[in-house]
Amino acid sequence: MCASQTLSHTPFSPDELKALRADFPALHQRVHRRYPLIYLDSAATALKPRAMIEATQRYYQENGASVHRGVHALSHRATEQFEAVRDHVRDFINAQKSCEIIWTKGTTEGINLIADSFCQGHCQPGDEIVLSMMEHHANIVPWQLQAKRYGLVLKVIPLTTEGDLDLMAYQALLSHRTRLVSVSGLSNVLGRAVPLQKIIEIAHHKQIPVLVDAAQAIVHETIDVQALACDFLVFSAHKLGGPTGVGVLYAREEWLKKLSPYQGGGHMITHVSFEETLFQEAPGKFEAGTPNIVGVLGLGAVIQSLKQWGLSRIHATLNQLSEVMIQEFARVPDIRILGASGVRAPMISMVHPSVHAHDLAILLDRQGIALRDGHHCAMPLHKALKASSSLRASAFFYNTSDEIAQCVDALVKSIKII
Ligand SMILES: Cc1ncc(COP(=O)(O)O)c(C=O)c1O
Repeated sequence: MCASQTLSHTPFSPDELKALRADFPALHQRVHRRYPLIYLDSAATALKPRAMIEATQRYYQENGASVHRGVHALSHRATEQFEAVRDHVRDFINAQKSCEIIWTKGTTEGINLIADSFCQGHCQPGDEIVLSMMEHHANIVPWQLQAKRYGLVLKVIPLTTEGDLDLMAYQALLSHRTRLVSVSGLSNVLGRAVPLQKIIEIAHHKQIPVLVDAAQAIVHETIDVQALACDFLVFSAHKLGGPTGVGVLYAREEWLKKLSPYQGGGHMITHVSFEETLFQEAPGKFEAGTPNIVGVLGLGAVIQSLKQWGLSRIHATLNQLSEVMIQEFARVPDIRILGASGVRAPMISMVHPSVHAHDLAILLDRQGIALRDGHHCAMPLHKALKASSSLRASAFFYNTSDEIAQCVDALVKSIKII
């Protein structure tokens, strides 16, 4: 193996990390006027790199025009830049065609879009949609809305006693009434990846399409939609360090031809009269109205930054941080880590038998350490794990091992204080 190949899978060195952290301005602040920020809430949203912030500022400062509509120079330039990002995203997830990339407001809207359009054309009363116990509410509630509308039945893949998805039970759940399987690639509570390839293979064997909620998975692994062979995949820009309010729906072209539009309005048509409307081909058919232009440009900038830093080095750094977290959090007395051990993202949710997660989160914040408490939009999963809420620490590649150790020291101290 040549040196550059070896390096490409090596975590960032302390010096590299220092340089890289300088690119995230929000990291360098004091909280409550005193404590240097330790940000361990990146699973909720990641902090933003300078290149992304500058790209969004540049658009408003130098352009600001709308896309697709004008013949003037500013609109033309905005459209070129906007559509170039579609191609960067296509490359980022290895989709076959740029038209398979649809802009959304985020993961939530992507799932709502598919739930709405898919159920409208492909479901009858009594048909079944399969979800998993690990799902974020964004991958539960949209299906419940459609279930009510069309008389569908939601089936849920349970967990094994170790906290993994029960694949045997999954196979048994699939029936001749199953119309779609929709699962998260990586739980935002357990930080554990699910065997997506296997889940998709099993469903496809029965000609059942699969939607992947990649809100968390997109951060921690390279996603190749062609290799996965998923039918739909959704993610949000903000978990990668991009802007909020913009995301991606990938759908295989054959599906985009079959599905009805989700929303109606400008841009998505080729002809409108009061009697009849003709729609554009995808992606336009699914992008009604003026899009989040600045959001898309920001996503483009963040993808470019991630590529420049090196995706495999970012993933190696995340793996290393994950091991550090497992070791460090094991130092906290009496704490229960939710989910099985083993390969996971640097994301740990924990429960203390006598101290409430909310009190711990507040005490940590007083020391400049940002963690998340609550059910993390996964109430059914918490119920299955017999926890009403948990305290979640989640790192991104800009975090250091030292920050995690400081967080654990502060957590131990906080538990003692309470
Ligand atoms: C697994 C998972 N799915 C869906 C979502 C919803 O993402 P958004 O709020 O960006 O639409 C999240 C956000 O935390 C998530 O972690």
